[in-house]
Amino acid sequence: HYHRHLQTSTQTPAKVTDFAFAFDIDGVLLRSSNPLPRAHKTLSYLQKQRIPFILLTNGGGKSETERAEELSQCLKVLLDVSMFVQSHTPFTELVDEYKDKRILVTGGDGDKCRRVAENYGFTNVLTPADLITAFPALWPFASPQNYESYARPIPNRRLSDREYNPRSNDNTIKIDAVFIFNDPRDWALDTQIILDLLLSQSGHLGSLSPKNGNTSLPNNGYQQDGQPPLYFSNPDLLWASAYHLPRLGQGGYKAAFEGVWKAVTGGAKLEKSVFGKPYQGTFAFAEKRLQSHRHALIGSGRSKIGTEGLKRVYMVGDNPESDILGANDYQSASGSTWQSILVRSGVYSGGEPAHKPKVVVEDVWDAVQWGLEKEG
Ligand code: G3P
Ligand code: MG
Repeated sequence: HYHRHLQTSTQTPAKVTDFAFAFDIDGVLLRSSNPLPRAHKTLSYLQKQRIPFILLTNGGGKSETERAEELSQCLKVLLDVSMFVQSHTPFTELVDEYKDKRILVTGGDGDKCRRVAENYGFTNVLTPADLITAFPALWPFASPQNYESYARPIPNRRLSDREYNPRSNDNTIKIDAVFIFNDPRDWALDTQIILDLLLSQSGHLGSLSPKNGNTSLPNNGYQQDGQPPLYFSNPDLLWASAYHLPRLGQGGYKAAFEGVWKAVTGGAKLEKSVFGKPYQGTFAFAEKRLQSHRHALIGSGRSKIGTEGLKRVYMVGDNPESDILGANDYQSASGSTWQSILVRSGVYSGGEPAHKPKVVVEDVWDAVQWGLEKEG
């Protein structure tokens, strides 16, 4: 079968297939920045055979362009942003909702995530580094010198009084939404600031709503107490890095924040939106990108124009909670079927997986061979 496939590709330009692969990154193709042994061989084989694939990761923290270039270097395969979805890529669909509003962006190294947010089109982005540099008392245990190199000054702004009063607080800082783009690096600082905002009057930093985070209580008269929406870019409790045991991911931070929230509010419901795998919106976003990438392949190559749409997608992942659950549950609006393949090279290392894949294999090469066998 392997050779037959190769022969057709040497005689006539292979037609772009009506099936494709979606690859998780951490634990499938990479461990931190170390490529897994057969990752290069797998992706270059698929490219030679004109079998479309995308990379669908809960990772992030830098622009899609920067990450795609990095991955191309790492995996020695030419990858571009059309075949690449990170945890925060779907935040691009929220830019219009927050046009000209001020958002807090946190997570990732230094100022990278602010720059990603600004490249997406968010126009007024603050970070915890800006806030702790401007108001060191916000978190007594922070070392502002750690942030000075990338903090931006907050001109003629001050903290709100405890009781926000529109008549005398017009130069206070109002945050309209909180976006966690990637794993927070300073859990304590971020937790204090996000807690302050969710307990504030409508995001006026320094104010305190009498509702103590309980959004079901009535607003207090003149001042809407709307909590700023809180967005997480992925729910991963654990992920597979270079270390031999799984590491806490953004879902670990979310669990920690939820613990603080429960202790401080006495159990108020935490209003939040979580993006990333396993959620259906993420898979729908990824499928759209996969389809347009496949059409670009059809259009660019010498292959006959395949009129039929994408029929089958093989999702290869290492985390049953995100990759497998998401692919198993995904109901494509365009009628493609997704099949989940679990590899042993990452978070999952044996035993009954929490969510049952179509098959469990050693690594990404075996995963692709299984998919090709299914294609006959
Ligand atoms: O932050 C990375 C972690 O969430 C896992 O990413 O590539 O395995 O979806 P990935
Ligand atoms: Mg993974």
